[in-house]
Amino acid sequence: MSNGELLINNLSLKFENNIIFKDVNLNCSSGSITIIKGKNGSGKTCLLQCICSVIPKHFAGIVEGEIALENSKTHSPSYFGYLMQDPDKQLCFPFIEEELFFGAENLKRDIDDFNTDYEMLLEMFPVLKQEDIETSELSFGQKKILLFSAMILKNPLIFLLDEPSAGLSEDYRMKFVDLILSLKKKGKILIIAEHETFFDNIGDATIWM
Ligand SMILES: Nc1ncnc2c1ncn2[C@@H]1O[C@H](COP(=O)(O)OP(=O)(O)OP(=O)(O)O)[C@@H](O)[C@H]1O
Ligand SMILES: [Mg+2]
Repeated sequence: MSNGELLINNLSLKFENNIIFKDVNLNCSSGSITIIKGKNGSGKTCLLQCICSVIPKHFAGIVEGEIALENSKTHSPSYFGYLMQDPDKQLCFPFIEEELFFGAENLKRDIDDFNTDYEMLLEMFPVLKQEDIETSELSFGQKKILLFSAMILKNPLIFLLDEPSAGLSEDYRMKFVDLILSLKKKGKILIIAEHETFFDNIGDATIWM
């Protein structure tokens, strides 16, 4: 299933006079997984933030180059899902239920597709059943599970995942791999920043920062 292609041409970022990266080129087709690797501070998070416009919309950086979505048949008002490196910076709501459903409710997804995804997620992650638990009571890994699940329910075309395996136990890492592969199968575009080797063998392409 082809949903479109994300094209990144000569993308460069600097903060004042500090060049973070220069001339990054990337073609991500529907149903592909791209892994971004590089040492601490090499610009992985900044690249994801430029792709979804967090930089320069929320953090003032100087961005040059082109980011285009071509041949998209999707009519979703929201193309991007961005899973931040630190879930505590991303959680918006006090209870699991609101965090899980807010994006999907806002975008008014098809109810049957939503229910299929929701049932799959409940089976994988029983913690999501405790809808009235406060998100502040969750562990670091459970917060990531909640945020990734909320993103899947929201159903964007492009998933930007920043260090998704960090802080997860082995069994949950395997579940994240399964989810990522099922999103690939649905024709999603996945870009994953990860300095561990964990996702290396599921990537279609790797770029080094
Ligand atoms: N808003 C900002 N303003 C100024 N400099 C920033 C900003 N955000 C990031 N930087 C700088 O950009 C560089 C790249 O940071 P980034 O967070 O993208 O690295 P990273 O590759 O994701 O590192 P890590 O593996 O530790 O997550 C760092 O030197 C950082 O200090
Ligand atoms: Mg980072």
